[in-house]
Amino acid sequence: MWIPKANLIILCAAVITQICEIGYTEKTDMALIPIPARMELKDGVFQIKPTTAIYQDPIAVSPIDLSAYLADALRRELGIEPAIREWSGGAVQDAIVLKLDPAKTGLGDEGYRLTVAEGGIEILAHKTAGLFYGIQTLRQLAAGAETEKGAIPRVTIEDAPLYPWRGLLLDSARHFLEKDFIERYIDLMAYHKLNRLHLHLTDDQGWRIEIKKYPKLTEIGAWRNEGSQRYGGFYTQAELKEIVDYARKRFITVVPEFEMPGHATAAAASYPDLLCRSEAVPVQTEWGIFPDVFCPGKESTFEFLEGVLDEITEIFPSPFIHIGGDEAPRDRWKECPHCQQRMKEKGFKSEDELQGYLIERVARFLSSKDRRLIGWDEILDVGGLPKTAVVQSWRGMAGAVRAAQLGHDVISSPNDFVYFDYPQNGQQAQAKPDWMMVTSLEKVYQFQPTPPELSAGEAKRVWGAECTMWSEHAPQEKIDTQLFPRICAFTEVLWSPPDRRNWEDFQQRLKAHYGRLEKMGVNYYREGN
Ligand code: ACM
Ligand code: ZN
Repeated sequence: MWIPKANLIILCAAVITQICEIGYTEKTDMALIPIPARMELKDGVFQIKPTTAIYQDPIAVSPIDLSAYLADALRRELGIEPAIREWSGGAVQDAIVLKLDPAKTGLGDEGYRLTVAEGGIEILAHKTAGLFYGIQTLRQLAAGAETEKGAIPRVTIEDAPLYPWRGLLLDSARHFLEKDFIERYIDLMAYHKLNRLHLHLTDDQGWRIEIKKYPKLTEIGAWRNEGSQRYGGFYTQAELKEIVDYARKRFITVVPEFEMPGHATAAAASYPDLLCRSEAVPVQTEWGIFPDVFCPGKESTFEFLEGVLDEITEIFPSPFIHIGGDEAPRDRWKECPHCQQRMKEKGFKSEDELQGYLIERVARFLSSKDRRLIGWDEILDVGGLPKTAVVQSWRGMAGAVRAAQLGHDVISSPNDFVYFDYPQNGQQAQAKPDWMMVTSLEKVYQFQPTPPELSAGEAKRVWGAECTMWSEHAPQEKIDTQLFPRICAFTEVLWSPPDRRNWEDFQQRLKAHYGRLEKMGVNYYREGN
């Protein structure tokens, strides 16, 4: 096409103007993790100054005072604490505005739009959780390695998570985790936009929840012999309620796990009648799978399970209660007159069906309290599983596929991708048991929470994923190095759209993110340690 020279100049000017108007380029040097769904950068910055004020929409009712939370975060990050002012809805300058728009349904329950303009910053969301996540993004921008103190790059970000269930399991049973440590992790989860904390609270090596009806659980079951030392600990109900509240204020649901029928030795050490043979057993001092599982032949066992669940559901408002269900040997049941009698009465042909009976009965009890049962994928193997049960797939992704195809909701936790007690490279593997597979950062980044073989309808049943931090080989002081940086890759897989993810780019952003982690005192894994 021939274009007269004068017109060409006009056309070029128009194109240039358009570029200037749009003017956005993408830069990875803001180094956000997880990377937002959409992000457009302009030239220039908004400078947060001692005069800058925070204004919050009065309709933004939240479990935490968002303005105070943001002011405190900026004070810690920048040494500048903005004032908090009443907002009447009008235009404000030199301001950070937290605004709810009930019409912005497209942002979903957790999405937000963050606009940094010359005159100030606006975080807009449909729900308060979205404001909270917009604040996390602003915190990361404020801590950006390449911004001067308080100079926030002019940017428009529209962002929402890919999956609603973005979880971390902490195992307090094998090694006791201090309450402060759990709360520190709640803050680190929030910073990385994770929203489910699964607390593994009972196992063969320790019982960690105060249960008023059964005081021996913590008098006996919370302690084990380690050489000549007594090792252990537990949380009072008041402490657990404080943890739940701390998490709620950071938009995190705490899901408690009470293991049954296996991993029950600490409970049985406290109340031997829970076992088929009613024999005395010590709280375990070794790691592994043990034969002393709850006896489902005795009615008194169900009275115990329900009594404990009565108190657990009182402490934890979570709509979901995890009952374990994994790794339960059935040898004792084969020889137990109570179990065999129950099987005869019910017409069960195998001990699998007896376990199915226990799970189904407990699921019914939980649903009478308006709660749903979650169990490890073994609960699919024993029959009788109500459709409302949620399946957590850990033996790879086979359980996720089967569960979704059978109509269950699913949480993906395949051991070969998201078990962060496993070593992250060959060097770490030397100090770990042989059966633990090397799970590198790059492998975690490739994790697909939704199995590709599912139909579109089945895929909707995959709510998301949880990474696990089993603590047999990682007491509290080793947990940072196990989780970081792998949890950064994990959260990006769950939050960011697949077309925004790029392994090379992620590694670049992670370099800047390490600076933020250092400021927060996170002892992330570095080559050679
Ligand atoms: C599991 O790792 N046994 C759930
Ligand atoms: Zn029995």
